[in-house]
Order: sequence, then structure tokens, then C-alpha cells
Amino acid sequence: MKVGVIGTGHVGLPTAATLAHIGHDVVAYDTLESKIEQLNRGEMPFFEAQMAELVREGLDAGRISFTGDPATAIKGADVVFICVGTPPRSTGEASLVAVEQAAETCARCADGDLVVVDKSTVPAGTGERVAEVLSHHNTENNFAVVSNPEFLREGTAIYDSLNPSRILVGSSSDRGLEVMKRLYQPLIDRGALFMTTDIATAELAKHASNAFLALKISFANALARICEATGGDVVEVADAMGVDPRIGRAFLNAGLGYGGYCFPKDIAAFERLSSRLGYDFGLLREVARINDETIDAAFTKIERALWNLEGKRVAMLGLSFKPGTDDTRFSPALALAARLIGAGVTVIGYDPEANATASREMPELEVAQDLYSALEQADCVVIATDWPEFADLDLQKAKELMKRPLIVDTRNLLVPAAVAEAGFQYIPMGRPELKPRQ
Ligand code: UGA
Repeated sequence: MKVGVIGTGHVGLPTAATLAHIGHDVVAYDTLESKIEQLNRGEMPFFEAQMAELVREGLDAGRISFTGDPATAIKGADVVFICVGTPPRSTGEASLVAVEQAAETCARCADGDLVVVDKSTVPAGTGERVAEVLSHHNTENNFAVVSNPEFLREGTAIYDSLNPSRILVGSSSDRGLEVMKRLYQPLIDRGALFMTTDIATAELAKHASNAFLALKISFANALARICEATGGDVVEVADAMGVDPRIGRAFLNAGLGYGGYCFPKDIAAFERLSSRLGYDFGLLREVARINDETIDAAFTKIERALWNLEGKRVAMLGLSFKPGTDDTRFSPALALAARLIGAGVTVIGYDPEANATASREMPELEVAQDLYSALEQADCVVIATDWPEFADLDLQKAKELMKRPLIVDTRNLLVPAAVAEAGFQYIPMGRPELKPRQ
């Protein structure tokens, strides 16, 4: 099938690459000309595992191309995906300006009947608005509007696209649903679950899924505070809860809380939507409040351990909002770094992928080019993102380089006993602190 994709960000690009991989002819449009040139050369604008390979495969096979001209992506297409940003307004609501513009562009450029798919995360009711815009600007063609929310995780976006937990498609149009089934048939043949609903239900399922995952994380973080007060261990409590299949272990890791461009903004937008619809979803405000509090909890632990913060040197391992990505948007690591810098600490950050994005976002942060040079003369190491390589930290080498053997492990990544055996004071989140054992 011929597919147009509007937007080549963290949703649009993996979607375009995956659809080309399963055999469709994809043209992706973006307004940023420099990005288009970069993509047509096979260079990626951000890091995502397997993406460069998939885009290269599509370019070589002639199944994917990138354009700065919307008509090239939309004319002759069977399906057009809207994958534009829905950034938060100061009120917490999602701004839908780009979605409206994309719908208008579809209406202007369409030269036949078209299925218009919204993949951007939007509040319930957006599909109806998109349908209005399409019919207002184009009375000649028939449009079927579909909501097809994405459940991709950054860092594993390509894996998730090729192995989706579900393909959720909402529409009031039988033609829309039928075209979407044909589009995804190669994945359905490999066992992917295909679910159809009305459009508002699909839109709601996206917000509800993210909100529920964030709720699990905040539950674990609240539990961490109780564990600290009682001497319990939040990791073991989560393990004991998680073996119950009704609860599940996933997303019960206490630490520095959730960040990124999805959870914080989606929870705020869902709360705002509920309030506008007349339901006070206070639980969502509490989820966000507990999440903010985790930064305070980590800051307090560091301050308590270091006493006066002015002039101290902290090595921060991990700057991205989670491992596997160079994305630092709403990164809890950067929020903690900002608090420390504000209190007079020199923070030297190191991240396997996100040094450059972190420096751009926070110029006052120093970054080290390798892990061990970040540790030189540090009063404390803070593990702020759970990159797997940090679990293999050479503790002896770290101890020799540092001014003081102190690790604040805000992601509960290390094995506590091993850290203490190596002569470090060890401060985790929601677990007993350990004194150095040598
Ligand atoms: C999230 C959802 O997991 C995806 O299903 C969804 O498609 C996506 O948002 C989106 O709306 O686009 P993502 O933001 O990439 O994906 O990241 P997650 O892996 O969900 O992690 C989010 C945050 O929660 C990270 O900061 C992570 O460190 C934190 N987290 C996760 C915890 O603090 N504890 C946990 O147990 C799990």
C-alpha cells in the first residue's frame, strides 16, 4: 500500500521505517528541510536501536523516502499517518495546533479517497475534530478517520513496532478499519493482536495505559518512602507483590521517578481533559505529585550525606530519562542535576548516549567523555539512569579516582552488598543504606 507519514519524530520515524520494512511504499514528510536531507542520506536525527538499519534497508529497496513537500507524501496515498507533536501548554493541556495543521494539509493535498490515521497522542474527541477539518477543507474526497495510538517505548521503538502487544484501531468507518487491517496484515500474520473500537475508546485507551503505568511507578515510589521509615526493602516488597499475576512486577521499580516526553505530559493532559469533562481525576494529580517528590527525596539523601553542598563535586551517571535513548526531555536526572547545581554543587555528568543532548539542554552541566573521568575527585557518585553498563562499574577503580567512596544509587541498580564490600557507603532508594565494609 502507499503510505504517507506526517512528522518524522520519535513516533513518525519508527512508524515509517516499520511500515516500509513490512512491504509498504512510504513517503515521510517533515517541515525541517535539514532533517529531510539527513534522513535521505540514511543519517538518523536521534538515537534509536535498529532504526538506522531499518531506514537504510527501506532506502536501498526504494520503499521509503523523505520529503519537505507534503503533496509528495499525500497525493496517491491510501493511508496518511499524522505523527506530529502535541506539546504541553502551560495549563497541562496538549496543544493540538500541529494536529489541526496536519489535517488541513491532508485535506488540501488529497487527490482521492483517503484514510487519515491519528498516531499522535491526543485527548479523546480529537478524531471528531480531525474529521470536521477534513470535510471543511475538502468536499470532493471521502475521508475515513482512524485513531491508531502507539504503545512504543523509546529505545525499543522498532522492536515494539515489529512485535506490538496490540494494534489498536478505532474508527466509525468500516472502510477505515478494513484498510488498517490490510496495512498491518504482515504483523497480524506473525501473531499480533488486532483490536478494533470506536475512535474515542482508542484515544482513551492510550491515555489510560500511560496513566496506569505511571500510577504503578508512583505507587512504588510512595512505598519506597515507607520502606525507608520502617527499614523495609522496596525491591523485595515489589518482588513479593509482582509475583501475583493480578499485579505483575513490571513498572514497580522505585527510584527517581518517571520522565520523558510521554508520561509527564500525558498524565497532565488526561487530568485536564477529565476536569474539562466534569470529572475530578485527583488520583492523577497525586501520581504526578509523588513523582515530583522523588527528586526531593534523592536531593535530601545527597545533602544529608555530603553535609554542606557548596563546592562539592558530584559525578552523575546517566542523563537521559531512561536507558537506551539519548532523549533528555523531562529527564529526572537533569531535574536532580539542576537542584544540585542550584545548591552550589559542581555536577559532572556522563551518559553513554545523551551527553550532547544534555549539554544542549543544560549548558551549566559539565559532561565527561568517559565514565571514569567523570569520577575524578568526586565527593559522590549518583546513578541517575539505569543504563546496564553502570551495573558493571569497576568499584576498585572508582574508589581510587574518587575523593570519597560514596554512591547514591537512585535507580537501585547495583548489588548493595558488593558496593559495601568494595568499601563504599551505599545509599539506595527505599532500601536499607549500607556502611563501607572495609
Ligand atoms: C511510554 C510507554 O511505556 C509506551 O507504551 C508509550 O507508547 C510511550 O510512553 C508513549 O506514550 O509514547 P517511554 O516514555 O518510552 O514509553 O518510556 P517507559 O519505558 O515507559 O519509561 C517511562 C519512564 O518511567 C522512564 O523515565 C523510566 O525510567 C521510568 N520508570 C519505568 C520507572 O521509574 N520505574 C519503572 O518501574 C519503569
